Amino acid sequence: MSTHRVFTQVRARSPRPPMRATCAVMACAYLTITMSASAAAPARKPAAPAIFSPATLARTDALLRKMSLDEKLGQLNQLFQFRRSSKLDGMVRDGKLGSVLFVADPVEINRLQHLAVEGSRWGIPLLFGSDVVHGHKTIFPVPIGLAASWDRGMVERVSAIAASEARADGIAWTFAPMVDIARDPRWGRIVEGAGEDAYLNAAMATAQVRGTQGPRLGTPDRLLATVKHFAGYGASEGGRDHDAANLSQAQLHNVYLPPFRAAVKAGVGSVMSAYMDLNDVPATGNRWLLRDVLRGLWGYGGFVVSDNNAVNDLVSHGFASDKRDAAVRAFKAGVNMEMASYVNAYTHLRAAVDKGAISVPEIDAAVRPILATKIQLGLFDHPYSDPAKAREIAAQAPAHQEEARIAAERSAVLLRNEGALLPLDRSIHRRIALIGPMAHARQDILGPWVFAHDPKDTVTVAEGLRAKLGDSAALAVAAGVQLKRDAPSPFESIFKEKDAPTWDAARAAGEFDHALALANNADVVILALGEKQDMIGESASRSTLALPGEQQRLMERVVALGKPVVLLLMNGRPLDLAWANTHVPAILELWYPGAQGGAAAANLLFGDASPGGKLPFTWPRNVGQIPLYYGHNLTQDPSEQDRRYWNEPSSPLFPFGYGLSYSTFAVTDLRLSKPTLLAGESLAASVVVENTGAVTADQVVQLYIHQRHGSASRPARELKGFERVTLRPAERKTVRFTLGPEELSYWSSATHSQVNEASTFDVWVGTDAQAALSATFQQQ
Ligand code: BGC
Repeated sequence: MSTHRVFTQVRARSPRPPMRATCAVMACAYLTITMSASAAAPARKPAAPAIFSPATLARTDALLRKMSLDEKLGQLNQLFQFRRSSKLDGMVRDGKLGSVLFVADPVEINRLQHLAVEGSRWGIPLLFGSDVVHGHKTIFPVPIGLAASWDRGMVERVSAIAASEARADGIAWTFAPMVDIARDPRWGRIVEGAGEDAYLNAAMATAQVRGTQGPRLGTPDRLLATVKHFAGYGASEGGRDHDAANLSQAQLHNVYLPPFRAAVKAGVGSVMSAYMDLNDVPATGNRWLLRDVLRGLWGYGGFVVSDNNAVNDLVSHGFASDKRDAAVRAFKAGVNMEMASYVNAYTHLRAAVDKGAISVPEIDAAVRPILATKIQLGLFDHPYSDPAKAREIAAQAPAHQEEARIAAERSAVLLRNEGALLPLDRSIHRRIALIGPMAHARQDILGPWVFAHDPKDTVTVAEGLRAKLGDSAALAVAAGVQLKRDAPSPFESIFKEKDAPTWDAARAAGEFDHALALANNADVVILALGEKQDMIGESASRSTLALPGEQQRLMERVVALGKPVVLLLMNGRPLDLAWANTHVPAILELWYPGAQGGAAAANLLFGDASPGGKLPFTWPRNVGQIPLYYGHNLTQDPSEQDRRYWNEPSSPLFPFGYGLSYSTFAVTDLRLSKPTLLAGESLAASVVVENTGAVTADQVVQLYIHQRHGSASRPARELKGFERVTLRPAERKTVRFTLGPEELSYWSSATHSQVNEASTFDVWVGTDAQAALSATFQQQ
């Protein structure tokens, strides 16, 4: 049962647990789990650094030796606290829970922590977890927006800020980053990750883990990070959330697993198992994933937590025979801690130990990293949140909001700018109409997964423009249309701002006409369109990419007025812009830009900031092209790649890595340090990038490769390096990249192993995935 179903129940039902643990006493038959497609282990060095210090491990083992079996088993359970309950309090006091999630109030966190520390024999603190996905008190752009910044340093900084704010509230653990590759934008959770590409996702995963945890787990004012959802969740069939994923070993090793490996390499302290079936074996019962790859191949030493109720759900998958079987099989597969809403299947583990299906050393091995994490995080020494620390962090709020504005500006992607309409000119554009349902949006501008913020901190687009323009221009604002999901969001109960009542037909017609009248009276129209916060995210997949509601009609009617029009988008997936891209001169993608989105929008629109973000996915012309991604294999007729349909081009509307600027750039002088290299060696590539325009602006220089032949076909292009640079007019910079075994090897379906082959390699460097500047080298 996923979290969305739980929220639906919380809203719709009494506090009684909706799921009853099946206590039918059936012997727990442990079945050996193997993946039919499992292949020989690629010969790669383990990725993981040691997470725990020797002192932590010694203290862990000393504690473990003293603990009873039941005390150990208690550490494996995690429950939601939706509201205060005497049952949950009792479990905490009796040492039956190792972790609680979703408690946001620091007073409540401390109350529960007192119960745990003072109630348990060994004073074992609870680990409080929460989804701090793109900010805690300060809300930054959603992860797909942060990824569009292609700015590792900034992503690390905002992750650190989010961590410090959450830690000050007593939260020690976040369920982020999500690094699921998303090649089907119908899938709502595309907004939570870094898009279609393994290399970009890996870079963002590394930055987020470093920012969240600091240089080592246990850094003051930071959190334990979780890389999720292991693995393949983004490949859910048809983009339908939670549906099965079927991925070849090559796709797993070359595309879907590398971001997880990068997080492990960066020292991530926890991994969340995914909900869905992966090649017929649910990820949460998937020993190949959780033991062979994660621990065996990569040497991961932290703990695995299941996604919510994913252990119980092994029964609904038609995989486990009952809850007891589910518990044993998830445990044996490698899930240390079980996240559940109301009832832990792991309560069956005691009986499994008594029957000899699970040994005490196996329990010790599962508990050890959980206890070590609590020790290393400092929870034994400082279990309670400190009000003085909370005041100190709260005092930094203005600086954090400033970072949020910068992050929103750096995430924005300029998709179109005919006739250099942007930036707007205050001397010409004196009467401005801001039209659209996102103009006044205070909640929707934030995107999903926001809980602890104060809505008063949010700057709407209307407020941002008003503050920027003061009395220098006339600003008229109207929504024009209302956005509504056809079926209410299961997360409605936790949104701070409730949906406005639905307009009746007369009101809808009046609002539409009023917006058109304002537009007709303006020098320039800014159309603020997109998807509401609840139209994307978990359990928010769609079968179309059309602008929801009446937005397309509004846009067409506004454009028909003949005014200059800027389309300002707030969304987390590519939308159908085929019409807009031929009729609207300027399109600026803001994503869900966060609390300072309105201030950032005003700066970008009036040229106080220049857009420098780049698309983290290929933007299709329409939904029928999905899946569409740049890293496809070549075919027998590559020159026909863009003509695969007879009715329209099969090329993207905008390529991966694409984004315009208010300036222009030249990328020249591609040099390779040598023409040939031996497998295992590295070479350097460099280019010169120059700002050839009139304003200081950013460019993201991107390097792509292609291996021309080998034991298996390789993608037409693969991103293998990028750097975002800021240049003044006429300024030049040399950007350098390294290509070595990490970049040139891949997992071959022919050899069933990681290979680094003799071949000819093409290199392209430029400003998107269609870069033309190229060079070639040989690997022997
Ligand atoms: C989501 C996870 C999330 C968890 C706790 C689940 O439904 O899939 O991403 O961390 O709930 O909120």
